[in-house]
Amino acid sequence: MSNHPELQAGIVLVGAPGSGKGTQATRLQNTLGYVHISTGDLLRAAVAAGTSLGQQAKAYMDAGGLVPDALVIDLVKQALAAPRAHKGFLLDGFPRTLAQARALEAADVRVSCVVNLLVPFELIERRIIGRRSCPNGHVFHLEYAPPKRQDVCDKCGQALAQRSDDTPEKVRARLEKFASETQPVIEHYAHTPGLVVDVDGLGDPDEVFARVTAVLR
Ligand code: AP5
Repeated sequence: MSNHPELQAGIVLVGAPGSGKGTQATRLQNTLGYVHISTGDLLRAAVAAGTSLGQQAKAYMDAGGLVPDALVIDLVKQALAAPRAHKGFLLDGFPRTLAQARALEAADVRVSCVVNLLVPFELIERRIIGRRSCPNGHVFHLEYAPPKRQDVCDKCGQALAQRSDDTPEKVRARLEKFASETQPVIEHYAHTPGLVVDVDGLGDPDEVFARVTAVLR
């Protein structure tokens, strides 16, 4: 994150766990040429690599809790400092707490739009339990977006697996954190007229993508 006044600007994707933030961000990065910064992906990569950050984050993630603000803010600062993030960014999974939103503001990072993906909580569990992903972060769904070959990524040929936090108990814990910590972030952004746009996250990913691109025009 930089405090330069030529200000980096970008889009924040918010929504409950499994609402399709990653699915839409992957499509949007190709259309907009913005860099996709997923704190969940960055944290999982740190855990897999066994870095100090990964070791500190793992227990929180395994419990369906939130990783401490200081760790995540530092991670995002590094990602936003990369030259390719200067054209624009898509933040997926950040900010998730008011402290994280304020850290962006303190660094003069400009959020031009907050896309709020709405999916009823009853459907979230089904989406999450059926999700399969590869070590490179390509995401599938057993029912809604199945791979051509069972348990093999169509894009890179790596094995598909279920995320360790994608169990019914952990989904419930993650939804509680979303309600207590992240809903206030959406309300905070909603104080700026026109900044938050609600997008219906139901329907297939292409339909949702059409809605997202329509609100970004
Ligand atoms: P993170 O990875 O960010 O998890 P999340 O917010 O719970 O979101 P998900 O990745 O589960 O879902 P998504 O909305 O991206 O949905 P997706 O597109 O995959 O974070 C994981 C953990 O890291 C957190 O719990 C926390 O511990 C930690 N963390 C991360 N950021 C943090 C932060 N800022 N502060 C503190 N801690 C942090 O879609 C889900 C499934 O549905 C897929 O299988 C997909 O194929 C399918 N699908 C998508 N769209 C559709 C559709 N339209 N119709 C049918 N199926 C669909």
